[in-house]
Amino acid sequence: MNNLQKVLSVSQWTENLFSFKITRPKEFKFKSGEFVMIGLPGKDNKPILRAYSICSPNWSDELEFYSIIVENGPLTSKLKNIKINDEIILMTKSTGTLILDALLPGKRLFLFSTGTGFAPFASIIRDPEAFEKFEKIIVTHTCRNIKELDYSQSIINKCKTNDVLQELTNDKLIYYQTTTREESLSFGRITNKIIDNSMYKDLKIEPINSRSDRVMICGSIEFNNDLKKILLNLDYKEGATNKPGEYVIEKAFVG
Ligand code: A2P
Repeated sequence: MNNLQKVLSVSQWTENLFSFKITRPKEFKFKSGEFVMIGLPGKDNKPILRAYSICSPNWSDELEFYSIIVENGPLTSKLKNIKINDEIILMTKSTGTLILDALLPGKRLFLFSTGTGFAPFASIIRDPEAFEKFEKIIVTHTCRNIKELDYSQSIINKCKTNDVLQELTNDKLIYYQTTTREESLSFGRITNKIIDNSMYKDLKIEPINSRSDRVMICGSIEFNNDLKKILLNLDYKEGATNKPGEYVIEKAFVG
């Protein structure tokens, strides 16, 4: 496989957040929710590579990624300048724990994310297999400010307006966004909203339980740990690719 792929489009969401699409070689296979190493040539032609969750569902012809710009970050300080037709290095093997196979069967699937942790869920909520396996999918995204929710909102809009996706997600996909540093319709950390039941009240749904609900978590390390504690208190057992469980967890990559 040729490791170099072409940039097809770039979208800037905020000063620090952008997404881009690249060509997908036919031989490149992945499961929705997985990540892959991508990058750019660096000094002396040594590649600078980082792990990026693939935002596209596995049926897509293109590969989409969502990135934060890390100040002085060796890759993202270059990656932020990419343009259509530029070349990106794509490694051949994808991997990750946020995949449907790592979860036991259940009725509802909860996907909890902060910041760029939404990326793997952009893939899963556009995968028909997720909707075959679960009756409802509840995806949450928490950011500091309203503008930082634009990317996840745009993916949800696609799910609700694209003919094929609409049929798939209709009545089954619930999106819940919250902010923590700017007043919005739903203000506060998702962890607090689970503990005080306000998330369930806002969405008019039953509280989460390990018998029928499966969970994926993707955000900062602190966020992942805090949410994991909540799940452990509810008797949740962690899953892995070789041993499915009731929840899976992965830290959002910094880019
Ligand atoms: P907060 O503003 O209260 O820190 P960041 O930009 O730092 O990665 O954070 C992204 C979002 O995740 C912010 O809204 C932040 O809320 C929230 N967050 C960070 N840590 C936690 C945590 N331990 N539990 C719940 N939410 C968190």
